[in-house]
Amino acid sequence: MLTQAQLKQNVAQAAVEFTLPFLMPDVVLGVGTGSTVDLFIDALAPYRDRFRGAASSSERSSARMRQLGIEVFDLNQVEAMPLYVDGADEIDGGLSMIKGGGGALTREKIVSSVAQRFVCIVDESKQVQTLGHFPLPIEVIPMARESVTRRLRALGGEPVLREGFVTDNGCQILDVSGLTITDPAGLEAHLNNIPGVVCCGLFALAGADVVLVSGQAGVRQVERAAS
Ligand code: A5P
Repeated sequence: MLTQAQLKQNVAQAAVEFTLPFLMPDVVLGVGTGSTVDLFIDALAPYRDRFRGAASSSERSSARMRQLGIEVFDLNQVEAMPLYVDGADEIDGGLSMIKGGGGALTREKIVSSVAQRFVCIVDESKQVQTLGHFPLPIEVIPMARESVTRRLRALGGEPVLREGFVTDNGCQILDVSGLTITDPAGLEAHLNNIPGVVCCGLFALAGADVVLVSGQAGVRQVERAAS
């Protein structure tokens, strides 16, 4: 029986194999944040001379890449990237995700928006029928914390401030439990529209394009159904 750590290692390796054909001297990759991505960065490092570098969604991933000799670019220097590789806290059958368990959701949404394809790398424990069991992270401007909290309660959620945590953008995170998310794209649009919300951890308006799922039988690749 493979442990969750081994499943993460396997999907990180599979993600590098998926990425290899895209590596060219002028290519900048989008790299996300989290324990699965840490393993992806480690496995990608031996190929650092095959591509230009990476744009990252967190100081944590940037530091790890620099340490391993992968050049990190400010996103403002990057016009296009073929792939953005990142984990998720939950992913449903339509490839909508909850992200932000590590608190990097806003930069994840920004960097992924520049990439042609979002490649989500997860172990099978992250697959769900309906999003919402994992508390939905929402990044807020500190002065709007209480007003946003009231709006989230009115939607049936139970927001809890992530104590002692400040995002890379100097903001705070509310983790919202109690939501059964049957319309992820609709809820994402609604939450994005609440004054003071910087970003919500739903990635549904633009979900994953490809997901690599690591299970006991190996790593499966699932592509977004053509619309
Ligand atoms: C970081 O903010 C998150 O979106 C991560 O992608 C997500 O929490 C998955 O993390 P792990 O790979 O550590 O499970």
